[in-house]
Amino acid sequence: MKHSDKKMDTIIAYAKRKGFVFPSSEIYDGFAGAYDYGPLGVELANAIKRHWWKDVVLKKHNVYGLDAAIVMNPKVWVASGHVGGFSDPLADCRVCQSRIRVDKELEKLGVSADEKMSEEEINRLFDENRDKITCASCGSQDFTSARPINLLVQSNMGDFSTDGSSPVYLRGETAQGIYVNFKNVVDTVNPKIPFGIAQTGKAFRNEISPRQFLFRTREFEQMEMQYFTKPGEDKDAYEVWKQDRWDSFVSMGINPENLRWNQHDNLVFYAADAWDIEYQYPDYGFDEVEGLHMRTNYDLTQHSEHSGKDLSFNDNGDKFIPHVVEASIGVGRAFLAVLSEAYDEEEIAEGDTRVVLHFAPHIAPIQVAVLPLMKKDGLAEGAQEIFAGLAGNFRTTYDESGSVGKRYRRQDEVGTPFCITFDYDSKEDDTVTVRERDSMKQERVAVSELQNYLQEKI
Ligand code: GAP
Repeated sequence: MKHSDKKMDTIIAYAKRKGFVFPSSEIYDGFAGAYDYGPLGVELANAIKRHWWKDVVLKKHNVYGLDAAIVMNPKVWVASGHVGGFSDPLADCRVCQSRIRVDKELEKLGVSADEKMSEEEINRLFDENRDKITCASCGSQDFTSARPINLLVQSNMGDFSTDGSSPVYLRGETAQGIYVNFKNVVDTVNPKIPFGIAQTGKAFRNEISPRQFLFRTREFEQMEMQYFTKPGEDKDAYEVWKQDRWDSFVSMGINPENLRWNQHDNLVFYAADAWDIEYQYPDYGFDEVEGLHMRTNYDLTQHSEHSGKDLSFNDNGDKFIPHVVEASIGVGRAFLAVLSEAYDEEEIAEGDTRVVLHFAPHIAPIQVAVLPLMKKDGLAEGAQEIFAGLAGNFRTTYDESGSVGKRYRRQDEVGTPFCITFDYDSKEDDTVTVRERDSMKQERVAVSELQNYLQEKI
């Protein structure tokens, strides 16, 4: 099917039906801004994270991994500027008290606006366009002025005061865990500059209107890398990382026609440049899946000043605060892009349509399905032996219920690239049939060659 014919509602319903994504706490009517990954979803999300880790950490000689705690000393968020300035501009409807995100309403009108604008600037644009903005709940145009509402989520972890006066914050981005460990990594790894530190992990934001399924949630997972360079060398590194990250989407199976670059018009005061990789989501259109930012030396300078610790880098006697190139991607948005890209309703014969997910084999939640032609005559045992030999090396499943044709379709529906059938000939000549998902072509492969065959294809 054409990408433009895909419908997000169909994909969301499919994701639930097949066990990719469930609404959070569904038996209690759900919980806004959170989703749960089901049996297939967790495999897909893990495959996406592994792909990222491989591209960003394992394939680079100078990027080091980290896994920092979600909850940190609250001074971290004061120093980073999140306590003072990490907010969205909201206005209340005076009639029904619904809230709107003013920058998003302006964007819908084609007015360039975002959450980084000053309160004065966003209110000037809001006032110029009030007559075109109506409350979605009651139709009124009577709104308060826009005011910033902080996005940090508070927790009482370790706060035993009676009035909750010493809250901590669930991290609003994973990046700060990297900055506060900068000195630890330098002191232990002794890296040469430039070098990077990367981590994946949960982040939390009090989004006023979580929406568009996994696209904007209050709890989400980020994959972030901060690359530290000498002052003046960040621009070149930035261009290299931009290309690298684009290529990583393509090698995850995303058609470059559904990707584009978007440069930010409005930069936060410390950023020197910011570009997003946008994916063309069905129905939602092009929107940010990854942000690449030149963050200058702002964060390390702030943490140096607030902590009193020297966070400069000593390059053979030349001391400076490194500049930072950041690559930041949300697992949920990448997941939604990969799923949307893979989803297909394909007419394979007159009146015969199959749903098939064209995942790249290294991303597919199940990579190999082993099927006995029949359960009897020792075929199930033979197939189970094949399964046992493959399961440690590939994400493998075993299925013996229903006709082989139906089982092929079931595997197509969850995007399994290879089905292996153990039949009567297999007992005689130690070969199996391997059926490829997209072409539906079948070939005989010797059991002794199976591992190598699959390794090469996957
Ligand atoms: N450290 C930089 C940073 O956090 P960001 O542009 O706010 O920058 C980076 O977020 C990425 O995190 C986005 O490109 C997006 O993929 C993901 N992301 C941000 N907010 C999100 C949300 N509410 N729900 C899902 N993903 C989100």
